[in-house]
Amino acid sequence: MDAEAAEEVRLLQDAGVLGPGCSVVDIGAGSGQFALAAAQVCERVVAVDVSPVMLARLVEKLDRGAASNVEAIGTGFLTYRHAGEPADVVYSRYALHHLPDFWKAMALCRIAGMLRPGGVLRLWDVVYGFEPADAERRIEAWITETMTADVERGWTRSELAEHVRDEHSTFTWLLEPMIERVGFEIVDASYSASGVFARYLCSKR
Ligand SMILES: C[S@@+](CC[C@H](N)C(=O)[O-])C[C@H]1O[C@@H](n2cnc3c(N)ncnc32)[C@H](O)[C@@H]1O
Repeated sequence: MDAEAAEEVRLLQDAGVLGPGCSVVDIGAGSGQFALAAAQVCERVVAVDVSPVMLARLVEKLDRGAASNVEAIGTGFLTYRHAGEPADVVYSRYALHHLPDFWKAMALCRIAGMLRPGGVLRLWDVVYGFEPADAERRIEAWITETMTADVERGWTRSELAEHVRDEHSTFTWLLEPMIERVGFEIVDASYSASGVFARYLCSKR
């Protein structure tokens, strides 16, 4: 999957929070697409993921010389302990939905704790921007327009249904108060037309 990492790096540069001397923590970093792109323009990147398989892919890239300022750490939202100067940016893309809502709030609180005042959380996730009464119709519409028949070419109906059934994507109107409650201002929020994806730029108060 193309993580739009270059665009994300530019967005954070334009926001004035990513640049020489800065530090970034990428939580749920996967194989490190964003972490490696960010490493080109900042001083320190910590790439955190609970999956040994995903981290091994990142470590392979690092061993091949992809970057010398990325630390790959096998911990998660609820276990990573940030050491050193508070981070300038915490980045997390398509990972927070792995936690149920209570634990999302705990994770967001921990993220606020690792950032400097004015530091930024950039968060993308599957977040539902509709009312519960509309959920069946909106989710069915999303699955129908997104699914492919071939597992090699994209997400199948059963994989998308599995996300809704087994993972913990929540509503925008539950997640956003959580983000604010732990000490962030939501500076920018954008939503997909499907009402299924949200991107947030949040500043630590
Ligand atoms: C869909 S992938 C996204 C990877 C990457 N951020 C991207 O956008 O390509 C979700 C990642 O979250 C990780 N993950 C799941 N639960 C986590 C947790 N509790 N803490 C940190 N990472 C977690 C998974 O191992 C996986 O690598």
